[in-house]
Amino acid sequence: MTPSSTIAADSAAVDLARFTPGKIVRVDFADTATTPSYDIVIGNSILSEAATLIRLRLGARRSVIVTDSNVDPLYRARLEANLAAGGHDVLTHIVVPAGEANKNFAQLQIVLEKILAANIDRKSLIIALGGGVVGDMAGLAASLAMRGIDYVQIPTTLLAQVDSSVGGKTAIDTTHGKNTVGSFYQPCLVLADVTLLDSLSAREIRAGYAEIVKYGLINDPVFFRWCAAHGGQLVNGDHDAQIYAVGASCAAKAKIVAKDERESGVRALLNLGHTFGHALEVVTGFGNALVHGEAVALGILLALRLSARLGLCPQKDYDDVHAHFMTVGLPVKPPSIAYDIDRLMAYMAQDKKAEAGKITLILLRGIGQAFVSRDTDVKDIRAVWEEFLSK
Ligand code: GLY
Repeated sequence: MTPSSTIAADSAAVDLARFTPGKIVRVDFADTATTPSYDIVIGNSILSEAATLIRLRLGARRSVIVTDSNVDPLYRARLEANLAAGGHDVLTHIVVPAGEANKNFAQLQIVLEKILAANIDRKSLIIALGGGVVGDMAGLAASLAMRGIDYVQIPTTLLAQVDSSVGGKTAIDTTHGKNTVGSFYQPCLVLADVTLLDSLSAREIRAGYAEIVKYGLINDPVFFRWCAAHGGQLVNGDHDAQIYAVGASCAAKAKIVAKDERESGVRALLNLGHTFGHALEVVTGFGNALVHGEAVALGILLALRLSARLGLCPQKDYDDVHAHFMTVGLPVKPPSIAYDIDRLMAYMAQDKKAEAGKITLILLRGIGQAFVSRDTDVKDIRAVWEEFLSK
């Protein structure tokens, strides 16, 4: 397994040399006075080094852990024991009920009340231990508590390790849609321990893997080839492959986020597959029928199909990605329900990324050559849905 894309330089080789095999990816912002830079530490013994890493990097001694009812029995005690042994005081832990349905105002209020009741001060930390729901909500709570206290992400799903824990998008869902209330608020450290992925179902791993392939498709054809060669090992639980791919994904995301924290330009590329995928998630009810990463995989195929239809990329690119998704067990067909293309189109137009009613899409001029398109004819988008849903 030859590393084929550049991982950002190790910024603290001395104290972190023992995290092998492991990686450190630095998220470096141009204006560190407004947005401090931070590290993402990736490896296979990170949870048992949490206290050391937090002390070395942040100097913090007190924290509140936010987790959910799935992760709490799996990892919270281990984290607390490690922190306590390292002389770190856990003021309290907060367990939110698991599931996207709980990423709402009511739970945010409960989390904030409990954080404030724990007697925090401005030097205390919030530690988000969990997947995307916990990370998004704990990050938002951290941005609001006392007008902003530091937080550390310890992502426990592959999707969170390669996407949601990095980049500082925090949010809750409202009746107006997913992630419609939130902030850009960067964590001060991300600790990604791939051994935590061992408790995930094969389906959850595959769903997270779709976001990994996305980075190759956006701007790194060599990484896509790595995925084609090693994706099978990764989804089957190979920790070295996971460390490499999480590192490469975080490095790719870090580069984009550092250039465009607030998504006024290049960050939109990270939405490859998401506008089509979001429409599928809405009509399938954001549930077990189609989980987020699976919707992204289908959305990527739709974006590639549209790109091929418009003559932007060869049909072979679509075929290669389709074949790879089949090999790793990602869906290549949407769940078989009755689809109303008008509804799908309407949801695409309402997407947060839409501007002045125009559907913004990420299309490809080839594998590794994604770009933002704001002028795709809706007739072509509709035609691609028709083709995709009829086969
Ligand atoms: N998940 C896309 C982003 O962080 O911008």
